[in-house]
Amino acid sequence: MPTYPSPAAVKLSALLLGTTLLLSPISVSAKFNPLDCVPAVSAPSPLSQERQEWLTYRDICSQLTELGFSSQACALLYTRLGPQLAQQLEEGQWSLSQLTFLSLPNCRLEYLDRYQTYALDHPEFSPLEAVVQVNLGLDRPFYQDPIVLSDPADPLVLVNKYSALPADYVPELTALKPRYGIGSLTPQAAQSFVQMADAARADGISLRSVSAYRSYSYQEQLYQRYVAESGQALADTFSARPGHSEHQTGLALDINTASSRAHFEDTAEYAWLQEHCAQFGFVLRYPEGKQEITGYRFEPWHYRYVGVEVAQVCTQLGLTYDEYLAYQAVPGSYALPLGPLAESGPDCQESVFLRV
Ligand code: DAL
Ligand code: ZN
Repeated sequence: MPTYPSPAAVKLSALLLGTTLLLSPISVSAKFNPLDCVPAVSAPSPLSQERQEWLTYRDICSQLTELGFSSQACALLYTRLGPQLAQQLEEGQWSLSQLTFLSLPNCRLEYLDRYQTYALDHPEFSPLEAVVQVNLGLDRPFYQDPIVLSDPADPLVLVNKYSALPADYVPELTALKPRYGIGSLTPQAAQSFVQMADAARADGISLRSVSAYRSYSYQEQLYQRYVAESGQALADTFSARPGHSEHQTGLALDINTASSRAHFEDTAEYAWLQEHCAQFGFVLRYPEGKQEITGYRFEPWHYRYVGVEVAQVCTQLGLTYDEYLAYQAVPGSYALPLGPLAESGPDCQESVFLRV
């Protein structure tokens, strides 16, 4: 039976991460101050369309301020909902709780009802915590109505118990040379693994692949074998159902072992990987203590290639890849009406939120 994650056990403390951690898919390195996007005191020239937009925006901000929203929240709500927000506020179209969720940069509009239900069921969580947990899918049991990914070749694809690869998906693959172990990976992941293994070797550490790409049908056989041996509930804690294994992406591999009996976590190889894998774009995908989020017990041997930039953020902040994505800001659809000021101002649509 799939396990239902206990929300209390997966509480993501915003305090641990700083006040807000919201990352853009575009870049994670730039720093963005939302206040930069709030119009300056001087208004654009009279009678221009820019001036009209600016007045609408000012009206929206004044209504939202009365409701207790900050200038940053006003800016975010405007970029998300646009100038029609003025009318919507007057008509009372949005509840305070809806506006609160919508003012968070990682709020997904299509999950608004789920956020509200989850928040009602879990008043102990802040709105940001509720949004993150619903974005993670934790308001639903594992494997309930999983989505089938439409872009499985995306190098940043998320494959887990809520999202599956099409059964016939086979990535472009490069076979590893025997000195690097067995199996195939995508060209980029293979090259990065080779670089990592070479760097490890220079430090006296041996890293070899024991399992890399696995086809849907091979994963099916593997999973069925584990179910027959251990029962489904236990098998689900260490083996992915077919379509749900990262191994089918060609971006993941097991290093040196794939058995908890080997206690890879106690080896110098594991210690080296913890220190260096992000430099080569890899993350430990199923860390200790994150089973309620990933759905899998600790797998010290399983690494996923996500690229250096993302891997470094995940590692520095102690986030699983699922969590990293749950904090991603959703780009707004509307530009802030800065009028002539916009030409020299920051681009709020593509800015990032990273305050740690
Ligand atoms: N052992 C991992 C979860 C897999 O089967 O893909
Ligand atoms: Zn694995």
